[in-house]
Formats: sequence, structure tokens, C-alpha cells
Amino acid sequence: MVTIQLNGQELTVPENRMVLEVARNQGLDIPTLCFHEALGPYGACRLCLVEAEGPTLRKGLLASCTLTVSPGMVIETDSPPVVQARKVVLELLLGRAPESRPLKALAERFGVTTSRFGNEAQGNCVRCGLCVRVCREKIGAAALCFAGRGQKKQVTAEFGQLSETCIGCGTCVNLCPADAIHLEDLGDQRRIFLPENTISRLPLVACRLCETPFQTEKFIAYVRHKSDIEGATTIPQDICPSCARKVYAETITGDFLV
Ligand code: SF4
Ligand code: FES
Repeated sequence: MVTIQLNGQELTVPENRMVLEVARNQGLDIPTLCFHEALGPYGACRLCLVEAEGPTLRKGLLASCTLTVSPGMVIETDSPPVVQARKVVLELLLGRAPESRPLKALAERFGVTTSRFGNEAQGNCVRCGLCVRVCREKIGAAALCFAGRGQKKQVTAEFGQLSETCIGCGTCVNLCPADAIHLEDLGDQRRIFLPENTISRLPLVACRLCETPFQTEKFIAYVRHKSDIEGATTIPQDICPSCARKVYAETITGDFLV
């Protein structure tokens, strides 16, 4: 255990905890974009800055998601330098993704409504890397990557072409904090895309019962494979969620619903 001071309050917390986790456990509001509990620390967006100092640490602004607590550390999460730096980071992010509604709402929550860093940037992507990382580290598909540098840096599929490894699961879409990456089912095809780049186009399999296209073959195969190796029982993969609910209700009530 280590003893630290957080916003003037002395706390004893387990070693190896990140300052962000400790602060949030205390109910403190530290905004984040590139952090997700399911993925390791990354430190890309700098939005989670706090002021910290300690016996072996010079006072400064540091990303709390990559900062481990150490004995005697003194941390401030809302000091004037933190508030000021957070506003500048939000302005920079707004300059990078001027059309992102979630980002605008987040910035507004911290008193930022305009950006001095306006540029030619378009779209919603804040380059937080969550989509790239979750696809590689959790799904194992590595369908996404960053291409380009500086203002031109953007999320694409490998080699800027349609991805051959994307399974169309939509995890990237669900995790994106900026509403920059989308999933669209049109007819019997699923498209994963950013306004500036299409990541994949995948055929959809039709539900065995209602015949509505609902899921990609690759995703069904992925779930089957996972349940095979993990020995988990899953719902049938060849019927859509709506029919699955009806079948489930039918087995409970005994009524014929599908
Ligand atoms: S598309 Fe979304 S998740 Fe991916 S880097 Fe951009 S903002 Fe982050
Ligand atoms: S959340 Fe810590 S740097 Fe992005």
C-alpha cells in the first residue's frame, strides 16, 4: 500500500494503481478520451492531465491514465494549471475534430465552446486510437491502423484498401468516443466506415427464421470459434436478435410467436 495526497486528502491505496483509477474511485471527474478499462494505458489524448509531485517526481502536469501512484505523491485534479491545460487540450481536440458532437458536448462541460486551433480538419476523429487498439488487442482482427502524419493522420484499413481481416463486429464503432466511425447495414451488406474512409464491406447472412440479413458470416464464425475454444454456450448464431427474443419467449411461455 502507498500513502498519497489527493486534492488535499490523505489516502492509502494499493501499489501499482493508476492515478486516474484512484481519483475516479474517489468520485473525481477526470475527462478521458483514449482511456478504456478493457485496454492498457495509452496516454495519447492528454485530456486526463493532473498536477503531481513527489519525493522522486518534479511538480508538473502529467497524464493520470499512465501515472502510477508512488509513496508521498501529491496530486491535484482541479488546480488552476490543470483547469487551464485541460481547456487547451480540449481546444486542440476541437481543432482536430470540429464536427464531433460528443467532443463538443465534453468540451462544453469544461467551459470550452470554441477553438483557437481551427484548421482545415474535417470529420469527427480525435485520433484516440481506441478503435485501432481494440480491434488488434481484443478482437484479434487488426483491421484498422493509422496512416499519415500530423493533420493528415487518419484511421484506415491496412494499405488504405478495404480490410480483408475485418469481421464486421462493430466493436470499434461502439468504443469510439467521438462518433467518428460508423456501421451501416444496407440490404445484404454491412459497411464500416469513417466519412473519409471505408474500412470494410461485408456480406450479411440472412436470419434462418425471418430471412432478414442481420450478421456477417465472419462474425458468426468468430463467435462459433470463441465458444468452441472457451466451451461457452451461446445463443444460436443463425437467427437474428429479434427472432432469438421471440424463440426465447416462446420457450418460456409455450406460445408460438415466430
Ligand atoms: S475513429 Fe474514433 S475510436 Fe478511432 S481513433 Fe478516431 S476517435 Fe478514436
Ligand atoms: S485518457 Fe489519459 S491521455 Fe488520454
